[in-house]
Amino acid sequence: MSKGIKVELSEKLNKLPPYLFARIDDMKVEALRKGVDLIDLSIGDPDIPTPEHIVEAMKVAVEKPEHHRYPSYAGMLSYRQAVSSWYNRRFGVKLDPSKEVLSLIGSKEGIGHLPIAFINSGDIVLYTSPGYPVYPVGALLAGGVGYELPLYKQNAFYPDLDNVPSDVLDKAKLLFINYPNNPTSATADESFFEAVIEFALKHNIIVCHDAAYTELYYDGERPLSFMQIDGAKEVAIEMHSLSKTYNMTGWRIGYAVGNSEVISALGKVKSNLDSGVFQAIQEASIVALGTDESVLDQIRQTYQQRRDVLYDGLSSLGIRSARPKATFYLWAKVPDGFDSMSFTAHLLDKAAILTTPGNGFGNPGEGYVRFALTVPVERIKEAVERIKNIL
Ligand code: MLT
Repeated sequence: MSKGIKVELSEKLNKLPPYLFARIDDMKVEALRKGVDLIDLSIGDPDIPTPEHIVEAMKVAVEKPEHHRYPSYAGMLSYRQAVSSWYNRRFGVKLDPSKEVLSLIGSKEGIGHLPIAFINSGDIVLYTSPGYPVYPVGALLAGGVGYELPLYKQNAFYPDLDNVPSDVLDKAKLLFINYPNNPTSATADESFFEAVIEFALKHNIIVCHDAAYTELYYDGERPLSFMQIDGAKEVAIEMHSLSKTYNMTGWRIGYAVGNSEVISALGKVKSNLDSGVFQAIQEASIVALGTDESVLDQIRQTYQQRRDVLYDGLSSLGIRSARPKATFYLWAKVPDGFDSMSFTAHLLDKAAILTTPGNGFGNPGEGYVRFALTVPVERIKEAVERIKNIL
């Protein structure tokens, strides 16, 4: 019998499922333990290394004693200026680095903490689903309730904002949207973003646009920033991350931009809970934000080639999906006779391919699996071959 204390989890933690990608990680460890030749197409974690010039900048920055002390809470002004210049160059959006930009320890951190700033017990956080699992988790940990806005193919993976029940709208304080979308890979047009602004103004709801994938686009079609739309700053912030654009998932750095009151409130939460981003990482990230587009074009071309091989391969096997215009995810319908989980298990057990079950991103994702394009093209060809053999 244990002599220790009786450890009782809080009601909130008890309500939380294990993090989707922690579960996937367990599946991966188990498969590798069995010694299988696993093709991992699950988490969106780039296999391509961080570009050399960023790593070199980090080596220099890490030697500087001034960076070994606590970082600035909001982020170094020079980092926030670099973000602001990047927005101006990329989107033609002007941001005041002192009030409209905040450093984040990756956008996951910002998404998780944002509801604490605005949500009282029982308040509602609207979020698109299937979606990044952190949206409802942040709501729950803040004492609020997440409310799923389903994304369906027949609606171009846009939420139906006209049919949110009025009792939900009465309690809704925050809305998370995400385009280019994880996991569906859908992109948004200007008129959708305009409708979101109108909705937010009408119902007094703060919008957080998760823009982590704007730089992973194909065929030269550059996605929009929400901040490009007239009126965006009156209702919204946008979160971005260096993770996917510059292959920096392990570095943990991102930022929030936009409405200065929302940015300030998020900054207040963060300064009470974390102490900012290691300044050496911020300094290297300034260099990252100045990366020549030709370097990013190369990365996009690599993913585009993988996308085409996987899309064409799955299509030839009768597995239906849309050829992604952005993100490095392919959102595919499971074949008849399977659901999300059974097809994921089938791919893992019979073909040693790890994918993410669509329902892991929320109930409307049932009937899909997500493939991440994060292995070399030869392995994608091999994956298609293996799938062919087990169907
Ligand atoms: C994903 O694969 O959806 C994300 O990369 C996971 C994450 O960022 O935590």
